Amino acid sequence: MFEIKTNTGETVLSEGETLLESLQKAGIYLTASCGGKGICGKCKVRVAQGKIRVNSFLNISENEKKLGYVLACQSFPESEILLELPEKLITVTERISTAKVDVVYNFFKKNPTLLNPLVKKIHIKVQPPQLENPEGDLERVKKALGVELLFSREFIELLPEVLRENNWSLTVVVTQKEVIDYLLSGNKLYGVAVDIGTTTVVVALVDLEKNELIEFASCYNSQILYGDDVITRIIYATEAPRGLEILRRCIVDDINALVNTLTVRNKEGRVFVICIAGNTTMTHLFWGINPNYIRQEPYVPVLNHYPYWKAKDAELILDSQIPIYTIPSVAGFIGGDIVAGLLACQMHNEEDICLFIDIGTNGEIVVGNKDWLIAASTSAGPCFEGSGISCGMRATQGAIEAMKYDKASDTVELKVIGESKPIGICGSGVIDIVSELFENGIVDQKGKFIPNSSKRIRFINEEFAFFISDNCYITQSDIDNIVRSKAAIYAGVSTLLRELGLNEKDISKIYIAGGFGEFLDIQKAVKIGMLPNLPKDRYIFVGNASLTGAILCLMSSNLLKIAEELADKITYFDLSSSKRFTDEYLSALFIPHTERERFLS
Ligand code: FES
Repeated sequence: MFEIKTNTGETVLSEGETLLESLQKAGIYLTASCGGKGICGKCKVRVAQGKIRVNSFLNISENEKKLGYVLACQSFPESEILLELPEKLITVTERISTAKVDVVYNFFKKNPTLLNPLVKKIHIKVQPPQLENPEGDLERVKKALGVELLFSREFIELLPEVLRENNWSLTVVVTQKEVIDYLLSGNKLYGVAVDIGTTTVVVALVDLEKNELIEFASCYNSQILYGDDVITRIIYATEAPRGLEILRRCIVDDINALVNTLTVRNKEGRVFVICIAGNTTMTHLFWGINPNYIRQEPYVPVLNHYPYWKAKDAELILDSQIPIYTIPSVAGFIGGDIVAGLLACQMHNEEDICLFIDIGTNGEIVVGNKDWLIAASTSAGPCFEGSGISCGMRATQGAIEAMKYDKASDTVELKVIGESKPIGICGSGVIDIVSELFENGIVDQKGKFIPNSSKRIRFINEEFAFFISDNCYITQSDIDNIVRSKAAIYAGVSTLLRELGLNEKDISKIYIAGGFGEFLDIQKAVKIGMLPNLPKDRYIFVGNASLTGAILCLMSSNLLKIAEELADKITYFDLSSSKRFTDEYLSALFIPHTERERFLS
């Protein structure tokens, strides 16, 4: 047995297994998109000290080899070693702070008849063959099932042996249309819901027999390397050599790695279905469909409603016949993530006019009720998703999610996810920090640092920054970015309302969605002028509503059908051609706003 010490301070024991397996046992998850087969090259780590036996160096360059890089899934420690982990690790949690899991349970408690998963298991007893009855195995299976379903070639090929080995008794997994596969005895039936965000990818593993959420895993969307927002990624997909394939591979690898991490931890079951929600560009890229025309007027996607495709079509590492359901989009800039979010809030059933705002790299806004729904989209940038600012990070362990500043003592009080040492700032922390700095006279109305207002302001990388802790700070460029992002969201909301002849006061409920931490101080978001100035009790924070909606659809075919109808019912309003939007945006580039009367209370 050897000790593996990591550069992040952990000590892991290796008992003859690969580095990847030793780390997994200790709860450290590398990206392992091929599931440890040594072909994807994603589990690369650097051995800084110690002896290691390596089976394969596939995807490791000569130079990397000299520097000590190895594939964790192909390497076995042969002494104590010091290991340098990559920055991008997968986060696994039982209850992810960004997904409101109670929404799912409460929904089905209130609507038990809608609990109808996309796949279910059926146990059948098949009539054994007889000399006097020449019916084939498949015909006898069909009779036992009693419903007309399709069968894949793979299923039929295995059928004779499976029937005879199991003494003519079978458990099969079916969708409403098709028999997918056999379920071995004792194997649990799992489904996976995925939210493909422009910045973050989150996966939920669901037990579809017990209707229970098991675990969540998340990571950054690897496409970030090729651009922060959807427009840059569309340009890359269209113009770079093999750009579309590179971006498709990134997201497929991310999902493979997340699903693999969760299935390695939950070996009692098998995944039989996937339900995906994402913005229109992300779903196009996932399916390898060129999103080029989304960025060209009149901004149409190739498709809004996705066919019934399989894991093999997407090159996921699951069994090839596993169906993948994609929540439909509304338009080029209103995707299935928003349709899923509306389902999670049930806004399409509301009598009064409500507002839904999804704060992510894009800020999507929907206004309406059970009779009508109008949606618009504005580009907010990734800073509220923990990217695009100096110390930004996702809402996971170590992220500052709230800050209180005391001017008299020039001290800060922090709320950190997991109550650990702060290592970065997530979206809700960003809002809190800017609000506190403004309220305490550290930044002015334009968001600029006021010289000598705090000893925490120091000069770093040729600009001023406010130090929250030794290693976490917010720079002048970060604040400029945040002001532009909050202005885009506020301007989107106020333009859409005014174009519809509505006023903020006409809104009965405002659902706020986004991958923030568990905690989002709505009042502070209002104080910096990001959200309309309305009473606090009208706001409902719904977390990652896209993932919640995808989980709901995974657990209910009826809801997936409603999602299909909802996508056709929503009208898209294009903000980019609105002169009012430009005016509203320019006025919102102040904290809280040029027209202070809009934020009097
Ligand atoms: S190469 Fe190691 S997990 Fe793919």
